[in-house]
Amino acid sequence: MTDALSAPAAHDWRDTPLSRLLDTRLPVMATGLQWLANADYVAAAVNGGMMGFITAASFPDTSALRDEIQRCRELLDGRAFGVNVSMLPKLLPGDRTDEIMALIADERITVVETSGRDPTAYVAGLKSAGCRVVHKVPQLRHALKAEVAGVDAVTIVGAECGGHPGESPVGTLVQGALAARTLAIPFALGGGIATGEQIVAALALGASGVAIGTRFLIADEIPAHVDYKRRLVEAEPGDTTLILSSVRNSMRVLRNDTTATVQALEGQGVDDVQSLLPYVRGALGKAAYASGDWRQGALSVGQGVGLMTCRAPLDKIVAALEAEADAALARLGAGGERG
Ligand SMILES: Cc1cc2nc3c(=O)[nH]c(=O)nc-3n(C[C@H](O)[C@H](O)[C@H](O)COP(=O)(O)O)c2cc1C
Repeated sequence: MTDALSAPAAHDWRDTPLSRLLDTRLPVMATGLQWLANADYVAAAVNGGMMGFITAASFPDTSALRDEIQRCRELLDGRAFGVNVSMLPKLLPGDRTDEIMALIADERITVVETSGRDPTAYVAGLKSAGCRVVHKVPQLRHALKAEVAGVDAVTIVGAECGGHPGESPVGTLVQGALAARTLAIPFALGGGIATGEQIVAALALGASGVAIGTRFLIADEIPAHVDYKRRLVEAEPGDTTLILSSVRNSMRVLRNDTTATVQALEGQGVDDVQSLLPYVRGALGKAAYASGDWRQGALSVGQGVGLMTCRAPLDKIVAALEAEADAALARLGAGGERG
């Protein structure tokens, strides 16, 4: 029988190796969102107790990115925030990663979320500039490589995620269980995580935190038209689909006219980027966010879309996640983290 003296002290789920690494109140990252994770959103994420990431790919050049970093610094009165750098899967002519990384080091950004390809070439430079590096991957084998490269933490996203789940997508629950057995550095889990109960599940698996994209798309601070957000509130998990597997760049997006066209072409055997690019260009997505016409463009959305109920300011969404996590732990009768 346990009593007040023999019961173990309850451990606060908010305090994990990841929240300590990022110096955040919550072990939650509001990760990179192309066109959407701007200074206002990132500042709201940091004010909500999370780490947020200005998404470098949203800006046409480093000068525009530097201006946005400056704006975020002012909004946050100098408090720490991150930058997301999605590298192209292969080093191609015109790749801007070198100059973006140089800017990040120069600006002494606290945390960098990398994704897309092996970050090894950049890890030492970023760390010597005082940046913490969290590398995001869809497969455990890439996480192991990043661990060897010396990143501080990794994020592993499962098949449910918005954006890129990799070419052999594996569900988030399975990824988490595998990662806990294999990785020595802290890891976050992402992909379909849209409730506090799921945060507790990720921590129970051994993750040190979570990465969330889709759940926050309907936050007031997300710079997108209200018609797009209304569509997301109505959507079911099955309203997302995968495109671009034919060019080995699978992407989970909102099902719409564009996905029907692209899937029809892929079904006919079209498998070259140049033929598909006119339908999936980033500019079309950007225009859809501005106009609210969600029927056009490849709009990254994860299966967690089916778990969102109403639009709200980001701090209200975060408060709901925290309350759900607290209630889930109360039901289980314990808190905890991987030792
Ligand atoms: C609209 C949208 C845009 C995204 N843009 C990027 C990006 O530019 N770079 C990146 O690394 N990940 C990007 N992602 C992936 C997210 O950072 C994150 O890994 C993913 O959303 C987690 O899964 P979830 O959507 O199920 O929460 C994007 C996701 C969404 C939904």
